[in-house]
Amino acid sequence: MKYLITSALPYANGRLHIGHIAGAYLPADIFVRYLRLKDEDVIYICGTDEHGTPISITADKEGITPQEVVNRYHQSIKEAFDGIGIEFDNFSGTARPPHYKLASEFFLQLYNKDFIKPKITLQFYCEHDKRYLPDRYVEGLCPRCGASNARGDQCDKCGQIYETTTLQEPKCKICGSTPVIKETKHWFLQLDGFRDKLKRWLSTKDYWKENVRNFIFGLLDQGLVERSITRDLSWGVPVPLPEAKGKVLYVWFDAPIGYISSTVEWAEKIGQPEKWKEYWLNPETRLIHFIGKDNIIFHSLIWPAMLMGQDKKYCLPYDIPANEFMNLEGEKISTSKNWAIWVDEFLQDFEGEYLRYYLAVNAPEKQDSDFCFKDFQSKINTDLNNTLGNLANRVFAFANKNFEGKITACSLSKSAKLIIDEADAILKEIEECYLDYQVKKNTRLIMDIARLGNRYFDENKPWAILKENREAVNETLYVCANLLAKISVALFPILPSSMLKLREMMGLSDQFLFNEAYNILDDIKLTDIKPLFHKIEDKEIEAQIAKLHLQTKINEGDKVEFATSKIAPLKELISYDDFSKLDFRLAKVLTAEKIPNTDKLLKLQVDIGIETRELVAGIAADYEPQDLIGKTILMLVNLEPRKIRGINSQGMILAANANGRLLVLNPDGEGNPGSVVQ
Ligand code: 2FM
Ligand code: ZN
Repeated sequence: MKYLITSALPYANGRLHIGHIAGAYLPADIFVRYLRLKDEDVIYICGTDEHGTPISITADKEGITPQEVVNRYHQSIKEAFDGIGIEFDNFSGTARPPHYKLASEFFLQLYNKDFIKPKITLQFYCEHDKRYLPDRYVEGLCPRCGASNARGDQCDKCGQIYETTTLQEPKCKICGSTPVIKETKHWFLQLDGFRDKLKRWLSTKDYWKENVRNFIFGLLDQGLVERSITRDLSWGVPVPLPEAKGKVLYVWFDAPIGYISSTVEWAEKIGQPEKWKEYWLNPETRLIHFIGKDNIIFHSLIWPAMLMGQDKKYCLPYDIPANEFMNLEGEKISTSKNWAIWVDEFLQDFEGEYLRYYLAVNAPEKQDSDFCFKDFQSKINTDLNNTLGNLANRVFAFANKNFEGKITACSLSKSAKLIIDEADAILKEIEECYLDYQVKKNTRLIMDIARLGNRYFDENKPWAILKENREAVNETLYVCANLLAKISVALFPILPSSMLKLREMMGLSDQFLFNEAYNILDDIKLTDIKPLFHKIEDKEIEAQIAKLHLQTKINEGDKVEFATSKIAPLKELISYDDFSKLDFRLAKVLTAEKIPNTDKLLKLQVDIGIETRELVAGIAADYEPQDLIGKTILMLVNLEPRKIRGINSQGMILAANANGRLLVLNPDGEGNPGSVVQ
């Protein structure tokens, strides 16, 4: 059996946040690692999704090419994956020539069989910019819920997908003018032509996750409408027809083809260019797409139809274990509001394995879950430190102190055997859960083995019987060591690097299969014992929560919130002591520049008398950088530093929020930088 595992191709238009990881990447990485422990033939394929209007909009805004946007984010996304140990066999991108070739082939074969047909449609057109405004190039009020900032194709607020021209009060995203409606020709995928085949195929999928099946049946009930698969844009795969000049394939048409083109690239890289066929052109292959719930429609209907319409006999998805969403501190993650935990920033403060563990414990498998910093702290401290870490520490420390780090293999008493049997029964359950994508349950089951070990250690009281019965103590240590070895296998898919460390300390091989978890160990010689995990302190968590609120506030510049309310309510009284802790100073702005990709952020260098500081200020909407240079301003200099957009922001400048407009505060007269404000 061959497994071909993919995760949704992330758009090369932004950084990765925890929601992405929890939904589509970590679950797949865990699944792949488990399959490898079962010695299965598996490849894990991904790459960046490099087309679509958001990428061209970013490029337009920054005055660079879409390819430059793509290069930047491809790199940062890849680094974030590396940082949390998500390991693909290949990580490609959809703007590469072989992908263009394959995407054109897909289009033409469907077109030649009449599954793609042209139609004259109405589109918004900007007279000022002389261009059509597909998808995100136009914004307006949602025709369904009335929300503002609804995009041309879909409303972010209510999720409704609609005909572009039904958008209310449309505005061109580039120049802000009101577009006109103009005719243009587009090509439509005739999904209905696949109705019977799709239904037959879907009827065999009774083993799919319930949330996915429910979603699909809802879609089938609505009927299979034709889908526009071309756009009036210059960035994308050109539509391979002479009469379609200036048009490209819709990003959602070409993106899933990236799964194949990335596999082809993989085969070439390993020097076996035909090998991709063993996976894609093999009806027995288990093709499994890990995605978030917003991608279900594409993977369960449109993509299979595209595959069915090809001359080559591609395998169809075997499973689509879509996950629900992860919220953050009780609210929906929003990249536009900067209400998100960015993986690259998180990794500067915490180990990647802690993030893996928490996203696994809290996986949004059946329903939306919530990333809550206090809960993150509690899970790391309770499970990893106090339960698993504690078992390893106490067993290893005891063996080191009293047995020179040697635990001798011995025959097991009845009660010891029962413990091992119980752990083996849990291992069996863990295996079933891995195959069923139930990672969350597995974290609990694995901790159950660790708890079993701790209880057994406590009950046997090795410290109390050491003098009179060293053999019994050795047996206790040996049983616990066996449990730890089992855990090192069972938890490996979730925490690969910590489990390799654990195995190294126990002198166990780093090459192993899951079945070895059921074996009983030989003699053990412990080496280089170190704590596996460390506690997360309250102050680390408080700092994260404050940072989250600050970043979203800076992002918004507080504008929206205060623009409508005239005067903000007064805050509670503080003591003189509290006040005296705040170190306000005069500071002189030395340099100021806009931070790319943001509307509101400036990077400043300021002189505070004794040193030069760098900081981020959310005032770009009200101040041009050059207007600030040379100005003396007020600043809080002893605020703990925060990383904002990769910049270590050391302090905060003071500004009044005058009904949404920010006014930077200056001293009433000359003053040297560093002067204390009191
Ligand atoms: O939703 C997304 O992030 C898309 N870029 C996923 C594409 S998945 C696949 F089809 F390529
Ligand atoms: Zn315009």
